[in-house]
Amino acid sequence: MTVATWCVCLIFNTYWFGAILNVMPAYSTYINFIKIVCRTLLLTVRFVCLMQLENLMKVIRSRRTTRGFVESELTDEQVELLVEAARFAPCAINYQPWEFVVVREPENKRDIVDVWNRVRDEFQTAHPGYRIATKAYLQEAAALVMVLGDPRCDPRMGLQDVIRSPDPRDYSWREYMFLLGIGASIENLLLTATAMGFGGGWLTTDIMGMEDEMKRVLGVPEPIRLVSMVAIGIPGRKFPMPFKRDVEKLLHLEHYDAGRLRSDEDVVRECKPGATRSR
Ligand SMILES: Cc1cc2nc3c(=O)[nH]c(=O)nc-3n(C[C@H](O)[C@H](O)[C@H](O)COP(=O)(O)O)c2cc1C
Repeated sequence: MTVATWCVCLIFNTYWFGAILNVMPAYSTYINFIKIVCRTLLLTVRFVCLMQLENLMKVIRSRRTTRGFVESELTDEQVELLVEAARFAPCAINYQPWEFVVVREPENKRDIVDVWNRVRDEFQTAHPGYRIATKAYLQEAAALVMVLGDPRCDPRMGLQDVIRSPDPRDYSWREYMFLLGIGASIENLLLTATAMGFGGGWLTTDIMGMEDEMKRVLGVPEPIRLVSMVAIGIPGRKFPMPFKRDVEKLLHLEHYDAGRLRSDEDVVRECKPGATRSR
């Protein structure tokens, strides 16, 4: 694609430069020359946009959940860049509920990993049939980004007249907006980490079970909530792309094509780790 784009631009630019060099004397007006220059500029801008799009798609496609790191460091500038990307995420009425604690010191990471393991063990004892993976790799991450949210930001503010949420005591709508916005900020952070050559693992397993203890370790006051944890570091190996549903399976144009609604079995198959395509 990139080579093809180059070729197209080269041909067009050659054409127009040829026109300037050879046909120029035949142009009687200055306007025609301006037109040629503008056209060339336009093509160049289009080419630059295409390259940017290409690079963006490359980053989006190559982002992988990374569950293993080699030793590396994140500088202050890199940390700021990650949070800079996160803060530009969209969110309901721009209320920006997110905050981040970035943990890089080995002993502080150890405290977090300890809480994680303790909660995991308790959970495992209480639910022997349900396995939670150990997260030994967290200690090797260059940084653990603890993603927090301030629930006092209320997306209802100013929207009372336009939303159809029937019950002001119903927390679910607020929760919905809260988590969607913070999720968008995490994705921005992950994509930026990918573009910087890092990998990231978005972790939520039993986050509610460990919230109080994790907040105590981090010194997070009420009413701030712990929403997720993101481990960032240089990937220790290549993480293969898991199954991704095809565009044609999830894109409906103009109306939902009910004929393509997945069967329950297909949904279950596609949701499983190591899933394969349904028919
Ligand atoms: C909301 C959310 C929660 C997740 N929680 C965990 C988690 O607790 N543990 C984990 O290993 N991966 C977690 N992941 C990562 C997913 O498992 C991963 O995104 C998915 O398998 C697709 O792989 P990919 O990110 O490499 O495309 C989470 C991802 C999201 C978006």
